[in-house]
Amino acid sequence: MRTVIPVLGAVCMLLVTAGAASRLQTGPARGEQIYTQYCASCHDQASPRIPPKAALQTLTASRILRTLDFGVMMNVAYPIRRDEREAVARFLGTAGEDAGPSPASFCRAGRQVMAGAPANWTGWSPTPANTRYQPAGAARLTAADVGRLELKWAFGFRGDVTAFAAPTLVNGTLFVGSASGAVQALDAASGCLHWVFQANGPVRAAPVAVSDGGRLVLVFGDQIGWVYALDARSGARVWMRRIEDHEATRLTGAPAVHDGILFMPAASWEETRAIDPQYPCCTFRGSVTALRVRDGSEVWKRYMVDAPVKTGATRVGTETFGPSGAGIWSTPTLDAARGVLYVTTGDNYSHPATLTSDAVVALDLKSGRIVWTQQTTPKDVYNSACGRRGANCPEDSGPDHDYGAAAMLLRADGRDVLVAGQKSGVVYGLDPDQRGRILWQARVGEGGVNGGVQWGMASDGRQIYASVSDVGRLPAAPDAPPLGDAQFDPTRGGGLTALRIADGGKVWFAAPRPCDPPRPGCSPAQPGALTAIPGVVFSGSMDGHLRAFSTDDGRVLWDVDTAKTFTTVNGVEGKGGSLDGAGPVVAGGMVFVNSGYPRFGGMPGNLLLAFGRPD
Ligand code: HEC
Repeated sequence: MRTVIPVLGAVCMLLVTAGAASRLQTGPARGEQIYTQYCASCHDQASPRIPPKAALQTLTASRILRTLDFGVMMNVAYPIRRDEREAVARFLGTAGEDAGPSPASFCRAGRQVMAGAPANWTGWSPTPANTRYQPAGAARLTAADVGRLELKWAFGFRGDVTAFAAPTLVNGTLFVGSASGAVQALDAASGCLHWVFQANGPVRAAPVAVSDGGRLVLVFGDQIGWVYALDARSGARVWMRRIEDHEATRLTGAPAVHDGILFMPAASWEETRAIDPQYPCCTFRGSVTALRVRDGSEVWKRYMVDAPVKTGATRVGTETFGPSGAGIWSTPTLDAARGVLYVTTGDNYSHPATLTSDAVVALDLKSGRIVWTQQTTPKDVYNSACGRRGANCPEDSGPDHDYGAAAMLLRADGRDVLVAGQKSGVVYGLDPDQRGRILWQARVGEGGVNGGVQWGMASDGRQIYASVSDVGRLPAAPDAPPLGDAQFDPTRGGGLTALRIADGGKVWFAAPRPCDPPRPGCSPAQPGALTAIPGVVFSGSMDGHLRAFSTDDGRVLWDVDTAKTFTTVNGVEGKGGSLDGAGPVVAGGMVFVNSGYPRFGGMPGNLLLAFGRPD
């Protein structure tokens, strides 16, 4: 069964932009103007490496849009607003849709959705404390088993160069988004396809399975600001709504769900829009929106900063706005006992700095009121223009030490500890009973713009596991496009540390290993989220390897290289690459992991891999 929304048709209604109405012009002229400004310098020249304009004109508009959103042109497209991307895609491309999945990739009659064994992983973490820990009963995999894991199947995301969507597993069915916006229900044992739903934008957030009356619904957001609820059995849409009207909105964190309400965090692309010196920076505000699972209606909404006002102009005369930023990239952490929700925030994009950036913030579950804020890096005002000291880079810019990872609510020595890891390379233990007072802090990496703890730590209740990116770059060519494309240092980055929960003391450190062989896009960095089961912590690396480490001493129990070609069950040409973003999901004796992450210069790939014990 398939449910498909025509991509461009559906997104046309969301051309709402903040602070830039004068630039809005639609129709082919607008598309041509964007082409001349952003594409012609490459695509109008004769080069064997670059497809000419005539070749682009044979592609569908939706394919071109995908290429800009999370495809091979994503680095080029950072400064290009959503409406501009749509205009240039329509100007260049043909109408109609790309080919869908091959009929052979669908499950045969008789294989039912969610009819398997009840071993589940739903959302970002199996528990609302966000520990990414799968207990023995649901994992059905032990430290003794992991050395024998073998590939069961590989699934290829058609037309994609990145595989970054966090899967959710319910009773033998895997629900997973993709860069193309296709959300698919797969049979966990074989990888055959039950249904496909086409979202408006790319989907990388883990779908959260929630029971609503008699049925199970999946709730998730996409990378352009839409939230969806789907019937898990059929893939049919129950409701959808856009929760922010800012064009640069991105919904990367999965919602937290409690008592029929979902809490959706919002972050944005606006930092990269600021690369364009003409862009009026900045107006996006991080937020949490509480919605009823039943119908998507709003219960409350809390912004992390006040509404922006005009603050002046840059050295090239572009107006500036602020406050802005403090986006929320990760899943909120539920603390029902205290009646609060913890979120972690990113930097401010423009002045004035606020107390809610680079912070752990507790919100009242009922009203969204801010109960307390613990800011660990003050005055971090930064945007992507700063990489090259562009006109939009704020004065006295900060270090870009966002929190990307969710906080974990843990317990040690009879008290709760809220643990948060930052891009600064520091992990904090906070006291949830004393307004987030810092109990301890531990440095686990150097930190930086692409450094420190990025996607998430894990904890088995005994220890905290924290891996770092700390990706090292070789100097970029002077004419390289902003962001991405720089070559990695194959010897720098990565590392996994085990910490005590009570005091943050170090228990062991598993040193990263240099790329072997050193291939383009390879780095030992370990920015991806970790996953723990009893005795084992899994960590993917930008070198393409997924490794299982012993929680006793950090020794490697299993190591598989995913950066190669695989035969896929759905007949799509499949290649693996860097591991980053959402970490592996373990349930029912199987390990599911994405491979391919070219953003920031890593190795591209389009695979979802499933490992299990030998039969
Ligand atoms: C800096 C040079 C450069 C700029 C600027 C650029 N491109 Fe490209 N583009 C390339 C190269 C090189 C490739 C081939 C990449 C590859 O295949 O790995 C490519 C590939 C593509 C493809 C993929 C074609 C296919 O067969 O899948 C599309 C679509 C595309 N570009 C669209 C655009 C659009 C639209 C713009 C402007 C918004 C743009 N590009 C700007 C260099 C550029």
